Amino acid sequence: MDNLKLSRIKLLGAAATLLLVLVVVFAGTPNTSMAKLTPETPGKLRLDGASDYAAQCARCHGGDGRGQTAKGRKTNAGDLTKSTVSDTKGIRMITNGSGQMPAFKDSMNADQIRGVMSYVHGFRR
Ligand code: HEC
Repeated sequence: MDNLKLSRIKLLGAAATLLLVLVVVFAGTPNTSMAKLTPETPGKLRLDGASDYAAQCARCHGGDGRGQTAKGRKTNAGDLTKSTVSDTKGIRMITNGSGQMPAFKDSMNADQIRGVMSYVHGFRR
């Protein structure tokens, strides 16, 4: 084996080791937003917007997103399965409120709002 090949192999090995170290370091970093517990699921990590949706949104938008709850009909919450708003606009609406929808910036952090928007986006098909 010539020297060039050998040094390439060494470089690859070093890169692989560095990657492994980075993965271990980042995997071990606690993510504060993910580590937050929800009142409904004590002891469980929140990994998506489902529990925030159930706690904060379902009373108007319904478990299925169609808005057919008493409060949803009253406020005209519409049907999230047919929504066409962009995620950016939706996040702005959830954060600051819109029409009869209250603002959620005081009850959820930015990560939670993003998570809940990604969850409601999932109602579309
Ligand atoms: C008090 C009832 C109520 C609650 C609670 C509520 N919404 Fe709404 N939501 C509405 C109403 C009413 C609209 C229509 C607002 C408008 O047209 O300006 C709306 C609009 C939306 C839209 C935009 C839909 C579209 O196509 O225009 C999204 C996305 C949305 N809500 C998500 C959420 C999420 C996520 C939550 C929970 C964090 C939530 N809403 C909580 C009543 C509510």
